[in-house]
Amino acid sequence: MAPAVSCLLLAVLFAAACRVIISSDQMCTEKEVNKTYNCEYLGLREIPDTLPSTTENLEFSFNFLPTIQNTTFSRLINLIFLDVARCQINWLHEDTFQSHHQLNTIILTGNPLIFMAETSLNGPKFLKHLFFIQTGISNLEFIPVHNLENLESLYLGSNHFTSIELPTSFPSQNLKVLDFQNNAIHYLTKNNLDSLKKATNLSLNLIGNDIKGIEPGAFHLKSFQTLNFGGTFNLSVIFKGLQNSTIQSLWLGTFEDLEDQDITSAMLQGLCNMSVESINLQNHYFSDISPASFECLTQLQELDLTATHLQDLPSGIEGMNSLKKLVLNVNKFHQLCQINAANFPSLTHLYIKGNKNKLDLGAGCLERLENLQNLDLSHSYIEDSDCCNLQFRNLSHLRYLNLSYNKPLGLQSQAFRESPRLELLDLAVTHLRVSVPQSPFQNLHFLQILNLSYCLLDTSNPHLLAGLPDLRLLNLQGNHFKDGNIPKTNLLQTVGSLEILILAYCNLLSIDQQAFQGLEKLLHVDLSYNNLTGNSISALHHFKGTYLNLAANSISIMPLHVLPTLSQQSIINLNYNPLDCTCSNIHFLKWFKENLQKFEDLEEMVCATPPTLKGVKLCDVKLSCRITAVGIFFIVVFLFLFSILFILSVKFFLRWKYQHI
Ligand SMILES: *[C@@H]1O[C@H](CO)[C@@H](O)[C@H](O)[C@H]1NC(C)=O
Ligand SMILES: *[C@@H]1O[C@H](CO)[C@@H](O)[C@H](O)[C@H]1NC(C)=O
Ligand SMILES: *[C@@H]1O[C@H](CO)[C@@H](O)[C@H](O)[C@H]1NC(C)=O
Ligand SMILES: *[C@@H]1O[C@H](CO)[C@@H](O)[C@H](O)[C@H]1NC(C)=O
Ligand SMILES: *[C@@H]1O[C@H](CO)[C@@H](O)[C@H](O)[C@H]1NC(C)=O
Ligand SMILES: *[C@@H]1O[C@H](CO)[C@@H](O)[C@H](O)[C@H]1NC(C)=O
Ligand SMILES: *[C@@H]1O[C@H](CO)[C@@H](O)[C@H](O)[C@H]1NC(C)=O
Ligand SMILES: *[C@@H]1O[C@H](CO)[C@@H](O)[C@H](O)[C@H]1NC(C)=O
Ligand SMILES: *[C@@H]1O[C@H](CO)[C@@H](O)[C@H](O)[C@H]1NC(C)=O
Ligand SMILES: *[C@@H]1O[C@H](CO)[C@@H](O)[C@H](O)[C@H]1NC(C)=O
Repeated sequence: MAPAVSCLLLAVLFAAACRVIISSDQMCTEKEVNKTYNCEYLGLREIPDTLPSTTENLEFSFNFLPTIQNTTFSRLINLIFLDVARCQINWLHEDTFQSHHQLNTIILTGNPLIFMAETSLNGPKFLKHLFFIQTGISNLEFIPVHNLENLESLYLGSNHFTSIELPTSFPSQNLKVLDFQNNAIHYLTKNNLDSLKKATNLSLNLIGNDIKGIEPGAFHLKSFQTLNFGGTFNLSVIFKGLQNSTIQSLWLGTFEDLEDQDITSAMLQGLCNMSVESINLQNHYFSDISPASFECLTQLQELDLTATHLQDLPSGIEGMNSLKKLVLNVNKFHQLCQINAANFPSLTHLYIKGNKNKLDLGAGCLERLENLQNLDLSHSYIEDSDCCNLQFRNLSHLRYLNLSYNKPLGLQSQAFRESPRLELLDLAVTHLRVSVPQSPFQNLHFLQILNLSYCLLDTSNPHLLAGLPDLRLLNLQGNHFKDGNIPKTNLLQTVGSLEILILAYCNLLSIDQQAFQGLEKLLHVDLSYNNLTGNSISALHHFKGTYLNLAANSISIMPLHVLPTLSQQSIINLNYNPLDCTCSNIHFLKWFKENLQKFEDLEEMVCATPPTLKGVKLCDVKLSCRITAVGIFFIVVFLFLFSILFILSVKFFLRWKYQHI
């Protein structure tokens, strides 16, 4: 009888009395308390009363507001940013925003506008950004402008404009961005350009308009921050038309699916009669590339030749001493020496990423680039059995090197000896073969960021990362450790300066208590997407104020002894763990309630067990592990029966004892 009773008692004790509080669903989502709300795609016909009048940023696109009245937004007088894209707005009535003095941005994109009252934009004195993309307008007179002295950017893309001319009354003195992309503008006249002259440092976007003619002298002595003529069929028109202008950045690229004329050296002669700092010619074909093609490019500081189908650049180009940045992404080089780097002796930035052919690094191809600081060779099918000293000979000023997403690279000890000033080295998703016991990264005294994610590293070599005294960020994501365990002696012990350590997706099952000894400066540890249990957290016992990401592990019950370790950290992420919400985990659940502010994204912290609470948010669980009335009744009965049993046995024992005296 007694065992049966105690079983029942246990059952009562552990059947936790749970209550789930489900918070009432809000229609709009709050992105920043009292300030930022998202109400997109809700089919709303008015501004919900639930939005507080303190709302500053409102994302309200894809609702239904055919007419906007002075009452529509009258409650939200603190608005700064308003997005009402695609709300089928036809009419904006008088004084719509009369009390909205702080309003800075209005997005009206994708509304079939029919009418805007003359006073509809009165009120916001600091209106800076206006979006009229896809609104069907064809004339700037449509926009009531007399109150827009502070307007900085006006987006008019995908409409029916045929001219860029601003009305004489248009307040353009502060205008910085004028975007006419994808309209039907084919000719630019002198008058058109004169109407923009109050706007200094303007960025004018005419991409997708296919300019067919520019009046001679239209750009004479005009100056622009950016001019974008992307997608123009005949670039001669542009080069001729821009004579005597000054342009910081000229975008003349095109798109793969557009038909256009090849660029000839004769066309590029037009650049001699204007002043340009940076030019982009992406996706064009060159009919004849020779040193002569570069004659009028000598003033350039930046040249972008992305996807221009190049197999080489000619040698003997002269005068390119100003060029600092050269972009040669997505071309067809076979060998790095084919870019004839010696033509561009002042380069500080060189990008050759996404090369279409297997790129052979050769030997010393960049040795004349003594000022090179930034080199990106990612995604270029580079394979080398012994990188990188011969290949990067003389690059002594290199600071950023990106070799990510390449083919296997063999690294010997001190593989980056030629570039001792490296600050960032990105080798992600490139299989590294280190055949020596010493560190290939030895003596990189300035290296701060090392990305070794998915490098198939031999993590058992404790010297792999030796000689990096200033390393702050180490990404080891996707590398595996023997038996899924980080042992006591491991490769992290030589990098005591680390502040950020990423060990996500490493298939970790456990971490030795002492594994992170010596990492005293850690501020951010990412252990997400492993198979760690609560016990491994003791390895973090000496960290304080750390951001700790333990999302998507196998943590079910959090042992009592790790709670002090968790308490010490600043932010913790435990999302997507199979958390236990029974009384076996009551210590953690209690501690959790008291430390809600430590947790990142509470929405995704849900119970996995017991089945009745599966999927319920941890913060909604009310667990009571006290004994219920039924429990007390059974305990009383149990104790009563136990006492009787005890008295009887004592009696029996004493009787037996006296009988045997
Ligand atoms: C949000 O507004 C409410 C009501 O006005 C106020 O009680 C609360 O303190 C505000 N919260 C923040 C974070 O500003
Ligand atoms: C809106 O306009 C109407 C008529 O023009 C006016 O009577 C009313 O006071 C205005 N409402 C607000 C909130 O300004
Ligand atoms: C011109 O505009 C660009 C960005 O649009 C800005 O970086 C630059 O400082 C501006 N120059 C002047 C002289 O205002
Ligand atoms: C460019 O400037 C030169 C000298 O000021 C002038 O002679 C020439 O006509 C100008 N060209 C155009 C197209 O305005
Ligand atoms: C391209 O434009 C130039 C200058 O306007 C003109 O001379 C040339 O004929 C045009 N080419 C084509 C193929 O239209
Ligand atoms: C440069 O401008 C001058 C004067 O306007 C003109 O004669 C010459 O042909 C132009 N050169 C080029 C390459 O367009
Ligand atoms: C290597 O760089 C130095 C300056 O750092 C330069 O003087 C020398 O010419 C370069 N060597 C070669 C082979 O280009
Ligand atoms: C290196 O290149 C890859 C691919 O192009 C890119 O995703 C990564 O952000 C680059 N690394 C750095 C540090 O910019
Ligand atoms: C490698 O890590 C650095 C620093 O976190 C990051 O900027 C870079 O984008 C990463 N590279 C890739 C290929 O993701
Ligand atoms: C780690 O967890 C994943 C998913 O939870 C599972 O598929 C995998 O088998 C686990 N690995 C080990 C080694 O337990």
